[in-house]
Amino acid sequence: MALLEILQFPDPRLRNKATPVTEVNDTVRQHVDNMLETMYKAQGVGLASTQVDIDQRIVVIDVSEEGDDPLVFINPKITPLEGPTSEMAEGCLSVPGFYEPLGRPENVRVTALDRDGEEFSMDCDGLLSVCIQHECDHLDGKLFIDTLSSLKRTRIRKKLEKNRRLATA
Ligand code: NI
Repeated sequence: MALLEILQFPDPRLRNKATPVTEVNDTVRQHVDNMLETMYKAQGVGLASTQVDIDQRIVVIDVSEEGDDPLVFINPKITPLEGPTSEMAEGCLSVPGFYEPLGRPENVRVTALDRDGEEFSMDCDGLLSVCIQHECDHLDGKLFIDTLSSLKRTRIRKKLEKNRRLATA
């Protein structure tokens, strides 16, 4: 396994729209394993392939308390289910240190392939629901800060650039 570099806003590669996986083979499984290792190391609850510059539609998530329940979604598709909109503060490994509440459907159904290429579907609520929606946005090149004002986004960009300069100084 290998740790992957997590792209940070405003890296233009975060805007790529990832290509569907045509066959779940060993290469794809290798990506999955590397993404899980990278997510756990970064103490994130989810990671999308776009964030590590892999052009395949892959999402990994673990919202368990112990961090021992990895979920793998290949070519995930989300359908909102009936129910309220919920607003939860979201963060992102590509926008470290910033949290913003976003309105999203509380309940969604996700259909995807697992690491063996088998299709499955899962109804999600709570943190898992927010997380899968957030990660699927990444696969389409979207970020949770896109709904903020451009002034606020510019502030975030400047702060992140400053942090990176300090980190490499
Ligand atoms: Ni994210």
